[in-house]
Amino acid sequence: MIDVLESGMLAQGPRVAALEEAFTRFTGARHAIATSSGTTGLHLALLANGIGPGDEVITSPFTFIASVNAILFTGATPVFADIEEASFNIDPEQLEAAITPRTKAVMPVHLYGQPCDMDHISSIAKRHGLIVLEDAAQAVGATYGDRHIGTFGTAVFSLYATKNVMTGEGGMITTDSDEVADLARLLRNHGMRNRYEYEMLGFNFRLTDVMAAIGIAQLGRMDEATRRRTSNAAYLSAHLSGVVTPVVKEGRTHVWHQYTIRLPHGVDRNEVAHRLGQAGIGTGVFYPRGAHRFPHIQAETGEVSLPVTDRVAASVLSLPVHPLVERADLERIVAAVNSL
Ligand SMILES: Cc1ncc(COP(=O)(O)O)c(C=O)c1O
Repeated sequence: MIDVLESGMLAQGPRVAALEEAFTRFTGARHAIATSSGTTGLHLALLANGIGPGDEVITSPFTFIASVNAILFTGATPVFADIEEASFNIDPEQLEAAITPRTKAVMPVHLYGQPCDMDHISSIAKRHGLIVLEDAAQAVGATYGDRHIGTFGTAVFSLYATKNVMTGEGGMITTDSDEVADLARLLRNHGMRNRYEYEMLGFNFRLTDVMAAIGIAQLGRMDEATRRRTSNAAYLSAHLSGVVTPVVKEGRTHVWHQYTIRLPHGVDRNEVAHRLGQAGIGTGVFYPRGAHRFPHIQAETGEVSLPVTDRVAASVLSLPVHPLVERADLERIVAAVNSL
């Protein structure tokens, strides 16, 4: 970090290039393009894939709002497919049923760090000639079969402060396409390839070298941090009772950005969170409402019925799973949850 400050290159410079290179190495994608956030990364990734007004993009309603806002920023229309109750991820059959002649892309969201059913989704996309854009914001390091998340089309990781690999604020696009990578790089920096030569209307969505230096250090610790998250999740799943513990689907690795249980029907979630809080256990609700429940989204999509998302959103609760959670903390969490 001090090196970066002393170099005088505080904006996008060699550390950003090194972080991009590190992402291509560990994901196996041909290109990585760093951005100022996951949200700006999604926006660029959609634009670089030619998505705009008149197009529909099918995504999950059970996500952070940025997934859907990015679609709206381009002028395209988000279309929701309901989720699978067990994995919290988009249901490929619902996704296929939502395809219309205007559908241009599908945006699976690897929620909480668990990959979506990418074989099924990729084969549907191929059959219908659709672009695959992974929202991998929460899934850095996750794998599906023998492939890393981030290699199924264009993908976007978030490097926001709470993410498994973080820079404070930041994002990373990965793609195998030379054209998509080139356009994303141009749009990231004012449409400018050569200094003060503007090829198109562009943004300033750059990451800084100061932040990239943090990301490089974080990436170096990713495997160990993921091992700790995985072992914490395994302990919780083996010992919790009276709640539904998360399902990891076969053939994929979950990186446990969140460890999310479901409370039984009729249990008051606020009350549970309050009681756990009094026992010194921080919890989170990701997310209390599906994206289809917000007025600015409804203005585009109208009222839609997504019963699985509504049911899941009403009953999820995330427990601490991060690498600094120790065995004694896990024992306390289990004791508190099991005696609810
Ligand atoms: C699923 C999902 N998509 C997109 C984003 C947006 O990323 P950022 O916060 O880096 O803009 C996030 C991050 O919070 C996210 O969780």
